[in-house]
Formats: sequence, structure tokens, C-alpha cells
Amino acid sequence: MRVPLKNSTILVTGGAGFIGSHLVDRLLHEQAKQVIVVDNLFTGDKAHLSDALNKGAILYIDDAEIEGSLDYVFHRHSVDIVFNCATKALNYSFLNPANAFMTNVVVLKNLLEQQRKKAFQTLCHFSSSEAYGTSVYEPMDEQHPLHPTTAYAAGKAAADMLLQSYVQMFDLDAFIVRAFNNYGPRQSFHEELAAVIPKTIERILKGKAPEMQGTGRQKRDFIYVADTVDAVIKVYPKLQSGEVVNISADHPIAIGDLIQKISHLLHYSGEIIKKEPRKADVLNHHGCNKKLKALIPDFTFTSFDQGLEKTIYWYQEKFNESFA
Ligand SMILES: NC(=O)c1ccc[n+]([C@@H]2O[C@H](COP(=O)([O-])OP(=O)(O)OC[C@H]3O[C@@H](n4cnc5c(N)ncnc54)[C@H](O)[C@@H]3O)[C@@H](O)[C@H]2O)c1
Repeated sequence: MRVPLKNSTILVTGGAGFIGSHLVDRLLHEQAKQVIVVDNLFTGDKAHLSDALNKGAILYIDDAEIEGSLDYVFHRHSVDIVFNCATKALNYSFLNPANAFMTNVVVLKNLLEQQRKKAFQTLCHFSSSEAYGTSVYEPMDEQHPLHPTTAYAAGKAAADMLLQSYVQMFDLDAFIVRAFNNYGPRQSFHEELAAVIPKTIERILKGKAPEMQGTGRQKRDFIYVADTVDAVIKVYPKLQSGEVVNISADHPIAIGDLIQKISHLLHYSGEIIKKEPRKADVLNHHGCNKKLKALIPDFTFTSFDQGLEKTIYWYQEKFNESFA
């Protein structure tokens, strides 16, 4: 029987980031006894945790790649459960591939070692659809081969394999949630590292033309961040150790259509700048969510239109605040 979230002490690595901070809020709502975050604020933002910190969450601004940093946290707190959300952005792997790869692998390696030494009981690790690479069949289920095309994705795939090896070798209680593309409030919009949705919104709000890399026919499967967190919380007691589940809304959309949609919602009808295709770009992602739906039969997804409107609203508010 897995230790329940309620009344547990839970560590979220990368918890000041986009998905991690929403997860922290939700864990507090689920009445975790204590939520602890370790985040080096590489892309994370303390402001994402302002509610959570007011409700008693603890933030360590520290690097989970440093074993001693984790030793310190596990020494100070009797942690039951860890959610690993720490990563450096996919786009960063084009600037510093070795570092992006190492972050994805080393943070998880450190956590698995802590778990092997019984520092905590259960590990939920966030993988990424990027580990699959371009689909060789669709929808892509959990048996789809891993063909990573970037150093970021190679790190995600390697981390997944590392987790599965530790489960088999040391009987750890650890499992993988493999998320497809997330969008929603708090996603980083730092231009160089930003994903397509925040980047497009940000550029239009700043009066710049949106950019499209390649033909725009490359597809991604988008899920609203609150749905991802809801799914993770609901699969938590159900997944077996070593298991993987796709977290996908089964909503693939071509990037060109997506940029048009955002432009339309922001009443932008100007030019869309065509850029060279990104090297090693995944051409098609379409996740199969049959397993997720079998695990959570009554699961409902936020519609893409509704999610996108909420997301745009959040960036507009942020944008207005910065000019207030
Ligand atoms: N956003 C997506 O579309 C998406 C899709 C699939 C999977 N995922 C996965 O979900 C998880 C969370 O992603 P996200 O979108 O919230 O990313 P994010 O960049 O917003 O958050 C990652 C957090 O990790 C922190 N971090 C980086 N290196 C660290 C280190 N060495 N020690 C401690 N903290 C460190 C960053 O500061 C940041 O706050 C990641 O595992 C990612 O691979 C995300």
C-alpha cells in the first residue's frame, strides 16, 4: 500500500517551475503535512510559490544535482514522497546540451540513491513525450519506442531507464508520469528558452510579430497544466512501481494552426515571421491516453479553447502588471 499524499511530507524538486508550482499548490490542497521545494531558480520563480509559501511550504533555493544539498534537506525533514519536476528547458539543450542532459539525469540519479538508502518511500518522476521522438505510429502509447532527438530528450529517456533499473534492482517504489506538451499560467516566457505558446503570446503582447520555425506542420499534443497535475494526483495511488503512464489530452495540433489561433484570440492579424526549422525538431506527437483513462475512468480534460483563453488572460495580467 503506497503512502497517501494526505498528512505526508512531500518534496518537489523543480517545484518553483511551471508544472512543479501547480503541483505544490495542489499537494497543499490535498492536505499534505508539509511541502518542501528544492529549486535552483534556473527557470523557476519564487513568485510562483507565493501562495504556497504563505500556506507553510518551504523553499530551498538549491541545486538538486549536488548530493550534499539533498543530504541536507533529507537530514532536516522526514520526507515520505518525492515528485521530481527539476529540468532545464528543452531549448536550453541547444545552447548547452551537456548541461541540459546532465540535469535530467543527475537529479534523478541523486534521488534514486537517496531512496535506495531509505531517505523516503515513494518517487514520482516526470518524464516527457520528448523521450519518444517523432512518432513511428500514432497515437503513441507507453510501448512506443524511445527515440530521443535532442540532448534534453536523451536525458529524459536515460533518466526513465535509470529509474526502471533501480526499481528492478532494489525494489524501490518509483514510477513515471510521461507528460505531453503542457501549457497554462506560469510557463516561462524568457524568450530564448520559452516554449511556443508563451513565446507567441509574449511577442504579440509586446507588439512583435510571432515567429514560426519550419513549415508549421509539425504537431504537438497539448494538455492544460491543471489537468496534468490532476492526472498525476489521481494516478498516484494506482500506478505500480516501475510503471509508466502517458499524460496526454489526445489533442494534437499543428504549430502553424496554433500560432494562428493565438493570433486570432489576441486580435493580431499581422505578419508571422518564418524561421528556419529547428534542428532535430520532433515532427509529430500524438499521445495515446487510453491507459490514463482506464486508470481514471471519470477524468475530464479542459477544452483547448478554454485553456488557451485562461493562459492568455494570465499573460495579459502579468504584462499589465509589469507596465503598471
Ligand atoms: N512543460 C512541458 O510542456 C512538459 C512536457 C513534458 C514533460 N515535462 C516535464 O515536467 C517537468 C517540469 O517541467 P516544467 O515545464 O515545469 O519545467 P520548468 O523549467 O518550468 O521547471 C523546472 C524547474 O526545475 C528547476 N531546476 C533546474 N535545474 C535544477 C537543479 N539542478 N536543481 C533544482 N532545480 C532545478 C528550474 O529552476 C525550474 O523551476 C520536467 O521534468 C519536464 O521534463 C514538461
